[in-house]
Amino acid sequence: FLLAKATLKPTPVNPGIDKASPKVATVMTVKDIEDALSKSSSGKVALCRCWRSSKFPFCDGSHGKYNEACGDNTGPLVVSKA
Ligand code: FES
Repeated sequence: FLLAKATLKPTPVNPGIDKASPKVATVMTVKDIEDALSKSSSGKVALCRCWRSSKFPFCDGSHGKYNEACGDNTGPLVVSKA
């Protein structure tokens, strides 16, 4: 049990977004989402959950490279008009 506990040390999820802050909390209003949806040709907005996007809090597809490198299956939160 002790060995398993020692190997399960958590690692940081956020590699570089606003690291000077003690906590990164992203606040988006319903209007922010509606505005993003109105500009989207697909009728969808993807919000990053992998913390690797250069457009954070929006997904830029960087999760694919991250998943390939570490074997994870992280993907965005997709908000859809319908
Ligand atoms: Fe982070 Fe897509 S870039 S979920």
